Amino acid sequence: MRLKNICKSFKDVEVLKDFSLNVGEGEHIAIMGKSGKGKTTVLNIIMGFEQPDSGEMNLPKEISAVFQENRLCEDFCASSNVCLLKKNKSLAKEIFDKLGIDSTQKVNTMSGGQKRRVALARCLARNAELYIFDEALKGLDEKTKAVAMTVIKEYTDGKSAIFVTHDINEAKDFADRIVEI
Ligand SMILES: Nc1ncnc2c1ncn2[C@@H]1O[C@H](COP(=O)(O)OP(=O)(O)OP(=O)(O)O)[C@@H](O)[C@H]1O
Ligand SMILES: [Mg+2]
Repeated sequence: MRLKNICKSFKDVEVLKDFSLNVGEGEHIAIMGKSGKGKTTVLNIIMGFEQPDSGEMNLPKEISAVFQENRLCEDFCASSNVCLLKKNKSLAKEIFDKLGIDSTQKVNTMSGGQKRRVALARCLARNAELYIFDEALKGLDEKTKAVAMTVIKEYTDGKSAIFVTHDINEAKDFADRIVEI
């Protein structure tokens, strides 16, 4: 995956200026930077939700993501949220068990941290060329964070991944390389 000299402005606010990023096959990258610097914008460009004003891109087709917001179907149970599109129930169950989530529980009865883990499971249960995590562990306690990080590493092993975080320890733990934006 490659971005080269990407520029992006929203009206008269220039967010990205000549931003470049290479993620090699199987490479794990962390992106860090102050709030409002453009991390989510970079991810939105990679996922095709935003178009850059200029620059070159070479993007994979299959991308699986944990968005900055959960974007779950609140009226459905955890399992349905993961298996709505890809019906791999046994893999979903395996990941839920590792994350300590009851797959039959309705999302609208869950805590914030439980919902976050459902969003994480949905991402990891898909086979993709590139995995994207936008502050995926936000809101989790230290112990749950450590478990979730182990699960993320297990299911992204050998796969390309971009991990946005404000936590330097998470970045060092996950990534082969840290990019400052
Ligand atoms: N759709 C949009 N329309 C207008 N401005 C936007 C839009 N999306 C992002 N921005 C602006 O672009 C800048 C970068 O936003 P972005 O969400 O990429 O930041 P971020 O680095 O992810 O921040 P955070 O760490 O708070 O998540 C901000 O100033 C934001 O207001
Ligand atoms: Mg963001």
